Amino acid sequence: MAPGDADLVEPDPRDPSADPDLGAVLVSEHDLQARVREIGKEITADYEGRAPLLVGVLKGAFVFMSDLARCIDLPVEFDFMAVSSYGTATKTSGVVRIVKDLDLDLSGRDVLLVEDIVDSGLTLNYLIKNLQSRNPASLEVCALLVKEGQQKVEPMLRYVGFRIPEAFVVGYGLDVAERYRNLPQLCAYVGLDPA
Ligand code: IMP
Ligand code: MG
Repeated sequence: MAPGDADLVEPDPRDPSADPDLGAVLVSEHDLQARVREIGKEITADYEGRAPLLVGVLKGAFVFMSDLARCIDLPVEFDFMAVSSYGTATKTSGVVRIVKDLDLDLSGRDVLLVEDIVDSGLTLNYLIKNLQSRNPASLEVCALLVKEGQQKVEPMLRYVGFRIPEAFVVGYGLDVAERYRNLPQLCAYVGLDPA
């Protein structure tokens, strides 16, 4: 890539249609990157003069958060938590357990919770309540994906990347049984439920 060509991302040579377990590309690498850049600009404007603490929910949000953080022109800090929800590999039960807690104290911080996907909304709802109880100065949510019409509870969502139809999706951090997180695009998963 020549200097100055930063917007011209080489297409990824991998072809997801070669994998029978992967269906349609729902969001291309180009569209993901373009939207992440837009959200980064919005956050930069909204948090002007502040130093937000990005809280990523492992493992799904790590790819999105990594790209997003580099599109925010502010002194951001990072922390992560890992949760596991009981259920099958493709459906959450809503019972959430914190597997790794945050390292930092949230009191007085402008916390931006970064999630990969909101399906039933149960995981996010639990996380919002949990983080709110730690007295942040502010708490907002940035979710890359929201599944249209699936929410049993409507969590507050300040920033949303894409609203997608009901389908199990993988790529760009999202997995099925730990696979496909490194796909640069978002694909429908059409293989067997491995649970
Ligand atoms: P919820 O509690 O039903 O909203 O589920 C949220 C969590 O389930 C997300 O943070 C993901 O870890 C996982 N999840 C839900 N839908 C998908 C999907 O289509 N692909 C991969 N993971 C998913
Ligand atoms: Mg998740």
